[in-house]
Amino acid sequence: MNEKINRMEFLKSLGFKGASLLAVYCSVPALSSCINESMDSVPLVIDFALDLGDPTFSKLNTVGNYVVQNGIVIARVSTTEFAAVTQVCSHEGKRKVNFTSGEFYCPEHGARFDTDGKGLNSKGSKGLKSYKTELTGTSLRVFS
Ligand code: FES
Repeated sequence: MNEKINRMEFLKSLGFKGASLLAVYCSVPALSSCINESMDSVPLVIDFALDLGDPTFSKLNTVGNYVVQNGIVIARVSTTEFAAVTQVCSHEGKRKVNFTSGEFYCPEHGARFDTDGKGLNSKGSKGLKSYKTELTGTSLRVFS
């Protein structure tokens, strides 16, 4: 049995299962990530869930707020919609993208992007990789 399976089995033994298990497994810093990412690259495969009932992510219950998880900026853009993009800016690769005034924004040089990741100015012209979101109950899935 490899090390990853042992860690997964350990989390299962704590009572985590399904999407919760995946979310915990992907978000525990001490464990190796299930996402292939580095500080300078965009993750190749994304599929995790956030529990909006958890105080860590409950700010996503309010329109205009955002959280950063696994290198992805996840924003609440309306009462029914979320948007998710990579935190790595396409201008010069800074990991600084946030969500401000209804759009994604990089404060390094001012790149602006819409909620689909499309560039809104010259610095943001290359756009951002965006991800799908799906809300089931209080579980928000973010995936490629
Ligand atoms: S690195 Fe983001 S605007 Fe330049």
